[in-house]
Amino acid sequence: MSQAAAQDKGFCLWFTGLSGAGKTTITNLLVKELLKRGSKLEVLDGDVVRENLSKGLGFSKEDRDTNIRRIAFVANLLSRNGVPVITAAISPYRDIRDEARQMMDGRFIEVYVKASVEECERRDVKGLYKKARAGEIKEFTGISDPYEEPLNPEITVETEKQTPEESAQQILKYLEDHGWIAKN
Ligand code: ADX
Repeated sequence: MSQAAAQDKGFCLWFTGLSGAGKTTITNLLVKELLKRGSKLEVLDGDVVRENLSKGLGFSKEDRDTNIRRIAFVANLLSRNGVPVITAAISPYRDIRDEARQMMDGRFIEVYVKASVEECERRDVKGLYKKARAGEIKEFTGISDPYEEPLNPEITVETEKQTPEESAQQILKYLEDHGWIAKN
């Protein structure tokens, strides 16, 4: 693929991982770098989407599936029109992630933001693991609700072993190597 064509090509970086694994942190680094390179870009972050597009939804499987289907729907509209998208939701269920993959055909790039429950609980950035352990939050992913690891993600970033900057670089390199963005 020529670089000019690549620049017009929409893709979807679909982040999946536990709360506190680093999805939003890495997204913010990527946004900075991609915008600096002149890319168009949109971000659909779980916490933000749940304030508007998915307002009122809870964390049952049904509600999570609805949330993820909405994110996939919007990501598809954007990416098929040449706008790169980063989605950063836990998206714990494999079947719905695969649905998003099918919908976005060859534009879907699954990024497993990998950190163990123990590590996310240790970080506990938002104090939610503590509440989940105390039973104040029900159906909390990794504690009292399932997280289904991706079986074959295009990219895995190991956030217990890498800094967020290293994870972002790894993803940028994948995008360059696969012709989604021009080499820097
Ligand atoms: S998803 O499962 O539907 O993909 P999403 O990423 O949108 O989840 O939202 C997860 C965020 O909601 C977490 O980062 C956390 O801040 C908050 N949250 C509140 N309750 C829960 C819960 N029961 N399980 C997971 N996250 C929760």
